[in-house]
Amino acid sequence: MCGIVGHLGPQNSVELVLEGLKRLEYRGYDSAGVSFIDERDVLQNYKKSGKLENLIGFLGEGPFVARSCIGHTRWATHGEVNDTNSHPHSNDQLSMVHNGIIENAPALKSELSSEGFEFKSQTDTEVFLGLMTINLKKGMSFREAVTASFNKVEGNSAFVLIDPDTSDIYAVKRCAPLVCGINEGQSEVLVSSDPYALAGLVDKLYFPEDEVVCHLSSGNKNLLNFYELDGSKTTRYLSKIQDLSAAVSDKGDFDHYMHKEIHEQPELIRSLTHYYFAGEGVPALEKAIKEKPENIHLVACGTAYYAGLVIKDHIEKLNRIHCHAELGSEFRYKNPILGKKDLGLFISQSGETADTLAAQSLCKTNNLKTMSIVNVDGSTLFRDCDSNLLIRAGVEVGVASTKAFTQQVLTGMIYSAAMNGILDNPDRKKDMAAKFSLLAERVDKILSEENKIESIASEIHNYKGYFYTGRGVYYPIALEGALKLKEIAYVHAEGYASGELKHGPIALIDEEMVNVALVGPELYDKTISNIQEIKARKGIIVTIGPRGDEHLKEISDHFIELDFDGLDELSPLYVNIVDQLLAYFIAKFKGTDIDKPRNLAKSVTVE
Ligand code: G6P
Repeated sequence: MCGIVGHLGPQNSVELVLEGLKRLEYRGYDSAGVSFIDERDVLQNYKKSGKLENLIGFLGEGPFVARSCIGHTRWATHGEVNDTNSHPHSNDQLSMVHNGIIENAPALKSELSSEGFEFKSQTDTEVFLGLMTINLKKGMSFREAVTASFNKVEGNSAFVLIDPDTSDIYAVKRCAPLVCGINEGQSEVLVSSDPYALAGLVDKLYFPEDEVVCHLSSGNKNLLNFYELDGSKTTRYLSKIQDLSAAVSDKGDFDHYMHKEIHEQPELIRSLTHYYFAGEGVPALEKAIKEKPENIHLVACGTAYYAGLVIKDHIEKLNRIHCHAELGSEFRYKNPILGKKDLGLFISQSGETADTLAAQSLCKTNNLKTMSIVNVDGSTLFRDCDSNLLIRAGVEVGVASTKAFTQQVLTGMIYSAAMNGILDNPDRKKDMAAKFSLLAERVDKILSEENKIESIASEIHNYKGYFYTGRGVYYPIALEGALKLKEIAYVHAEGYASGELKHGPIALIDEEMVNVALVGPELYDKTISNIQEIKARKGIIVTIGPRGDEHLKEISDHFIELDFDGLDELSPLYVNIVDQLLAYFIAKFKGTDIDKPRNLAKSVTVE
């Protein structure tokens, strides 16, 4: 969702905020804006719809001398994408940015209008500006006004505000990501919606809890102070020394982050294996399997949900524990049946997805143990769960998730294997490690021959629609493959269980439809008959299947051959990497904005 960065300190605040926004742009790119106090102590506000580069072009040549600045990249919720609706929202008394939704905005809007506040935008955010303006007029101090305004708004949000009188910055949140950081040496203090924006700029991170007011101040002996809403000082925050400098990533020789991230997978698989089989991850794994749950409620959204479906299958087959895979947005409202000895297991790349967090909180309220399979160390999900297994994918910048999926599934499988005692048995453990290393090797090979997939993509990128089909363990992969394609290529794609196609969707098959058929060693014969049914209706068949299979070659228009031998339960991941490449090259031929697909955001922090 929206990205927020604020900076206060002797260095050039505008430059640092823009640097932070660049790192967060993948979270929302409908508009960008900055507010800062210039060298004449005047509040300046610049904002522009569209990508950050529009704002940078609009700002023109710097340097802008400023010791305090807040900035924002927007993923629009209320009000269309235009300059007026862009953040920051400001007047001569304050400027502010917001991430989230003010649910009671309509009621507050009429209240504020009747008190004489004039709205300029269609956003819910401006309600907070109105509340602040009226509270300041009543004579409240800036911090009192923040508290009083925050007490009036409902919903999950983070607000960051700048006070032009003092240049101080204030931040407060409810169920939305927020982190502060200090660079002691430079006497600088920063705030952001994401620790990634602060990587390399601070020595220490501070994660405030909900309803804690963070005061970033240069005039105070402490650069950063935390207050309860009643005005008393508080220690309700988690502090963490963290060197994130290594996390800042660039595209290297690749055209897109997504392509680079697909290529990182073999190395990541190898390092994850070491981490959990013999490295620093062992204690976390031991903690995770301490108690055997009666049932598992596995909750996630988007790609992480599809990773969850693969993990569910693995846990059920290996451990015979009932594992319910649920979408975060559904689980939170369905009054789920939760047993006291059940486990809530949450999968997330960002650890900030609103629906996943709400599901975790529901489980916690019902006294369930909760555990995460998560990428971002220190994220809200990580902090809120009783135990965590990091997937160690590194920063994922491409909005369409690739490497995180692979690492989530592998981490889930390691958890499942550990629960089963496999990792306590030296031979079985060795076997499993060998399979992981084989997967990395096979992926390396696929990547070195990706031009074959590129050439198939060049032939199929202009069709009307795409059905991804698979059975058993390949069914979640079909869902994920189709999601990848629609996310980045803007074409209709659907994942289906092969056997279900004849119950309706087959009506759509004609010579303008492509079927990407995923054929592993499991349920082989059944899957082949499903392909024949599509072929009989003139659909274009792209098969991803076992190498050397003459029959498949014969019935397919395009055949991508894979070496499944020895991979066993890891085969679906292998197929998925082909799906990732196919989606990537199709999108490239279509000329879409692959790393920042329209309407999407990397981390969905609103419902
Ligand atoms: C967004 C992203 C997806 C991601 C989903 C869940 O929709 O665009 O790529 O799978 O959120 O995100 P999470 O961070 O919880 O894995």
